[in-house]
Amino acid sequence: MKKICILLSIAAISSLMAADGAAVYKAKCFSCHGDKAAKAALNKSQIIAGWDEAKIIAALNGYKDGSYGSAMKGVMKPIASGLSAEDEKAVAATIASFK
Ligand code: HEC
Repeated sequence: MKKICILLSIAAISSLMAADGAAVYKAKCFSCHGDKAAKAALNKSQIIAGWDEAKIIAALNGYKDGSYGSAMKGVMKPIASGLSAEDEKAVAATIASFK
């Protein structure tokens, strides 16, 4: 299952020329944060739907460098670290557009 997810993610990402926030969200975030980011990831995260772009980027950068997060931040660190700056911006804009 995990392998399939990874393969699907790679296929989804590599089929894109430019960062596509919706595709990044679907491939890398949807499984935990849910449809339109309306779910508490693993029942632990805050609900990030409606967060503005800057707040999401700040959180992701904080997970990367360890300056942000709660008990489950270890889950987000590798995910945030795997995003390029463009992916991060694109996916943040996508999440910010969810209401
Ligand atoms: C494996 C499940 C999982 C995936 C996949 C995942 N997240 Fe998370 N996310 C979490 C958990 C758990 C937390 C809460 C971490 C903590 O304790 O700080 C979280 C927290 C966050 C937060 C901050 C919310 C808070 O509670 O402070 C943001 C923003 C976020 N994730 C964005 C993303 C983005 C963007 C992606 C895709 C690139 C993503 N996440 C993928 C599980 C996941």
